[in-house]
Amino acid sequence: LGFARTDPIRLAVIAGSTRPGRQVLQVAEWVVEAASRHDDFEVELIDLADHPLPLLDEEMPAIRGAYANPHTLAWAEAVGSRDAFVFVTPEYNHGPPAALKNALDYLFAEWGDKAAGFVSYGIDAGGARAVEQLRLNVAELSIATVRTGVHLSLLEDFEDGKLTPREFSFSRLETMLGQVAAWASALRELRAANVA
Ligand SMILES: Cc1cc2nc3c(=O)[nH]c(=O)nc-3n(C[C@H](O)[C@H](O)[C@H](O)COP(=O)(O)O)c2cc1C
Repeated sequence: LGFARTDPIRLAVIAGSTRPGRQVLQVAEWVVEAASRHDDFEVELIDLADHPLPLLDEEMPAIRGAYANPHTLAWAEAVGSRDAFVFVTPEYNHGPPAALKNALDYLFAEWGDKAAGFVSYGIDAGGARAVEQLRLNVAELSIATVRTGVHLSLLEDFEDGKLTPREFSFSRLETMLGQVAAWASALRELRAANVA
């Protein structure tokens, strides 16, 4: 098979907001820092702002894998080279940001049979409603989402706009990352077996 059991899991932490003045980067960096402490992971931050994708402009549906545009090919390379994802998302009108949904819709095979967890934030529900919507969306992409979510409160886990996570949020993050590591390594074996 194409990997040793000890190979680290290539984890992408995907920052899902592209808004000027966004909070997402400090949350994503907190996740990167925690994941980097695990020997299991080789961690990369993927900022959607670095992958400026127009509203989906591919003629062929992503499931056909016939990408035409350079921005799609670059995005496919970024996602396809990873084993697992943590989606970091705010809640916009009780759903995920359009930029994140658009980025998901661009690809298909590159997401499939990989594990993912969620870290969200919001005012009154920690962004949980956005995550519940995303779980349905990514299920259609054959992404396996782990049970534990990290839902940060903009009131309780931030002070003056600065991320100051509660102890509870740290432990939720550790639990989630452990679940992602377990499923990601199992699914990596599945993908390798399918290719062989
Ligand atoms: C268009 C829009 C819609 C929002 N809707 C919600 C919402 O439904 N629930 C919520 O808790 N916060 C909502 N907020 C507040 C966001 O949680 C807050 O602005 C957060 O910082 C956004 O993440 P970002 O700064 O990384 O873009 C909304 C913000 C925007 C810009």
